[in-house]
Amino acid sequence: MALLKSGKIISSVGAYCPSLAVFPIRASSWWSNVEMGPPDPILGVTEAFKRDTNPKKMNLGVGAYRDDQGKPYVLSCVRKAETQIAAKNLDKEYLPIGGLGEFAKASAELALGPTNEVLKSGRYVTVQTISGTGSLRVGGNFLSRFHTASRDVYLPKPSWGNHTPIFRDAGMQLKAYRYYDPKTCGFDATGALDDISKIPEKSIILFHACAHNPTGVDPRPEQWKEISALVKKRNLFPFFDMAYQGFASGDIDRDAWAVRHFLEEGHNIVLSQSYAKNMGLYGERVGAFTVVCSDAEEAKRVESQLKILIRPMYSNPPVNGARIAATIMNTPDLRKEWLEEVKGMANRIISMREQLVSNLKKEGSTHNWQHVTDQIGMFCFTGLKPEQVEHLTKEFSVYMTKDGRISMAGVTSANVGYLAHGIHQVTK
Ligand SMILES: Cc1ncc(COP(=O)(O)O)c(C=O)c1O
Repeated sequence: MALLKSGKIISSVGAYCPSLAVFPIRASSWWSNVEMGPPDPILGVTEAFKRDTNPKKMNLGVGAYRDDQGKPYVLSCVRKAETQIAAKNLDKEYLPIGGLGEFAKASAELALGPTNEVLKSGRYVTVQTISGTGSLRVGGNFLSRFHTASRDVYLPKPSWGNHTPIFRDAGMQLKAYRYYDPKTCGFDATGALDDISKIPEKSIILFHACAHNPTGVDPRPEQWKEISALVKKRNLFPFFDMAYQGFASGDIDRDAWAVRHFLEEGHNIVLSQSYAKNMGLYGERVGAFTVVCSDAEEAKRVESQLKILIRPMYSNPPVNGARIAATIMNTPDLRKEWLEEVKGMANRIISMREQLVSNLKKEGSTHNWQHVTDQIGMFCFTGLKPEQVEHLTKEFSVYMTKDGRISMAGVTSANVGYLAHGIHQVTK
């Protein structure tokens, strides 16, 4: 079949086909086999929120910090770093495959602590990645290629919704260990230790370094010690996801305690870091992936393979956000200001937790809401049942995921009373 300049169509044997003489002709679809996929559960919440006309509506679904006026917040240290960078009139050349060197070094120091033996002996490699998600994916692909002893990744139950597809798409098998106890809305230490003690040797086990998402429940230091000892005994491979360093307690060192404890105990971990939350660099996509090795020579070999893995994925990471993060971490007065601002964000969230509980009491709620203040970080697992969540959304226009998770960052001094009222109405 051919389309002539005149718009006439002739068949392959040269005959004019008047019935087909319409143009342009659309080829039959290549994608008729593609089924409609389900919408992202969190983005679905935002869509429903946008459609709601109630002026009191609250969106507690998204995991991004808001100030006490409910507005997105750009840290002042970020604005200052941007000004300093702009004044330098830097070029926009490609970064190396592993990203900006001074950013990678500062990231490793931030996580491991600047005096850590791992850094001194050079037995690690850190590459810049496309935020925390990109870091987890590089990590997943690295394990899939080189951790040939096991393809099994054990996630806490529940875990961040994206962990499963990230590791699955990287070719790993997903398993789970008990983590959250719905009865106490707290950490299920017995269940976790029991499950971990049965994980087959050499499997990979994922930990949220702090501010566990979605539950807001972290093990205490004594519990981390027990977990570390058990992981060693079972010869498991620890993967730490640290998306909230500083954001949990307001103190970057305290939030890195578990990671540093595991290193002290001799685990050679891998680590994902994100600067989305603690520097508010969400859309800049700034993150890092670190592999702690046995020695510096092994680190060099691992680095070479990480580059081979990254090159065909995205070639090299974006430069702008890494410059901002590196400028903040490596300029003493900006770093000082950053640490104060992280503390400010964490404290606002902690204060919202306290105000939510005191408002619930004022409403007359007799439930035990202690888990709201015991939990830490951006998210709170309220313990609300799916039907209570539905009721809260329908009656009060409070939007959240069906599992009862609320983003404390969406709660403000102005709406905390309304939220407490709604929660009391659906739980009394
Ligand atoms: C547990 C956890 N890991 C990783 C991430 C990665 O986020 P990003 O890719 O925006 O850095 C998030 C973000 O919500 C998270 O909650």
